[in-house]
Amino acid sequence: MTNAIDKANQAVKKLEEEMNKQYYPHFHLAPQAGWMNDPNGLVYYNGQYHAFYQHHPYNENWGPMHWGHAVSDDLITWRRLPIAIAPDHDYDQSGCFSGSAVDNNGELSLIYTGHIWLNGQGNDEHIRETQCLATSKDGINFKKHGTVLTPKEGIMHFRDPKVFQQNGKWWMVVGQRETNDVGQVLLYHSTDLKDWKFDQVLISDIDPNVYMLECPDFFPLGDKWILMFSPQGMQAKGYQYRNRFQSGYVVGDWQPGKPYTVIKSFQEMDYGHDFYAPQSFLAADGRRIMFGWMDMWESKMPSKHDKWMGAFTLPRELILDGQNRVRNRPIKELVALRNQPKSLTNIELNSELKNTEIESISCELNVEIDLANSNAERFGLQLAATPDGKQATLLYIDRQANRIILDRSLSGIDLKGYRSVPLPKTKKLSLHIFVDASSVEVFVNKDLYSLSSRIYPKLPAKRVINLFAENGQAQISKLASWQLKSIYE
Ligand code: FRU
Repeated sequence: MTNAIDKANQAVKKLEEEMNKQYYPHFHLAPQAGWMNDPNGLVYYNGQYHAFYQHHPYNENWGPMHWGHAVSDDLITWRRLPIAIAPDHDYDQSGCFSGSAVDNNGELSLIYTGHIWLNGQGNDEHIRETQCLATSKDGINFKKHGTVLTPKEGIMHFRDPKVFQQNGKWWMVVGQRETNDVGQVLLYHSTDLKDWKFDQVLISDIDPNVYMLECPDFFPLGDKWILMFSPQGMQAKGYQYRNRFQSGYVVGDWQPGKPYTVIKSFQEMDYGHDFYAPQSFLAADGRRIMFGWMDMWESKMPSKHDKWMGAFTLPRELILDGQNRVRNRPIKELVALRNQPKSLTNIELNSELKNTEIESISCELNVEIDLANSNAERFGLQLAATPDGKQATLLYIDRQANRIILDRSLSGIDLKGYRSVPLPKTKKLSLHIFVDASSVEVFVNKDLYSLSSRIYPKLPAKRVINLFAENGQAQISKLASWQLKSIYE
């Protein structure tokens, strides 16, 4: 291990002792202490799943980026490993930015962005970004090989390489801010991960305001190729694109050596407040699985007071539907976390608030709503609610707007605002909900829409699940709940 890694590991351990875990997730991957952002280098290697992440081990703020590291045998429970790489060379001196990992004949290879501030930290007008390689034979200790790909003349923002194998070659997608401030994803290929040749611009000009496409990912799903990325610069439009930055995908056709043809334009992947920089990988059985960063740049981050910040979303399986929409749903392995099952049936609400007595600190809910027999103006659930319902995160059906709303106005500390998706035109509606110490994830009709948002309920206070209906009645045909076990070994 290098000195920089030793120092970083000691620092994060020390910071952990000062940490307050009141909002720390029970079943989401989060940093040991300090700061976390994007998922990096997700890969199945030597019979284990490796997850790396953008990490600042010295304090709770974003700073010189390291790669944090955890492994899992089952995608559910995680064990921490030492920090994998630190910004300790001239080509990555200001940060080891996001990237990916591949198994290259038994060698775990990380391809990441070496970031350099040329004119002081935070001055984005003068930076240098190149793609770098680091390899490991044991999956823990990495040897750096330096820069393997530089941008064309005049380009500064050039980052977040995702490498994959196709037709016997390595391929890499990278995000770029063109000199005219247009966001693009570029495709390269290589035979040895070291010598890279430009192939094509996969996508450009998705929207006149978009100046950068961060964290691209390019992968087959069904009979299509999905290009997923996180655009910067999009403006809010009605219910869409409400977050500081977006994450989504286009669907198209591609074969090595041929141009990429887009057949479905940009769609958001998730509709909550906190979802960014998603990355996918292949599970051992061939499923395509995705993690996102369950936070948003420039939003308030109350857990910083507790010396940590950032979490992944749940692992989610990606599926392409008949309309070429990419759906995402929690992976089936998560049922192993279930404890203390409870089931309520045929609950009728009449302009009232009902306390279910289900504890809400770390729980999963499966709710079936009979829309055909519900005429209340607003009805649904209060999550992480005080028993009197005065503080809660509201998840409800708005019959006037015909939308499903996730509202944090009364959630607790700092975070406000609502997000919503259209109410499906079905007689029955299912809501699959995961509430952790500081997050809510909702899956509508299994995988039609997902909404992921952070919440910070005021503590200490008992938190439960309430049901409510305003001005009319609502019929909840089923409410199954579980308390979830911790994912940390
Ligand atoms: C996305 C991002 C990436 C970059 C990393 C730096 O959230 O801005 O583009 O590599 O974070 O931490």
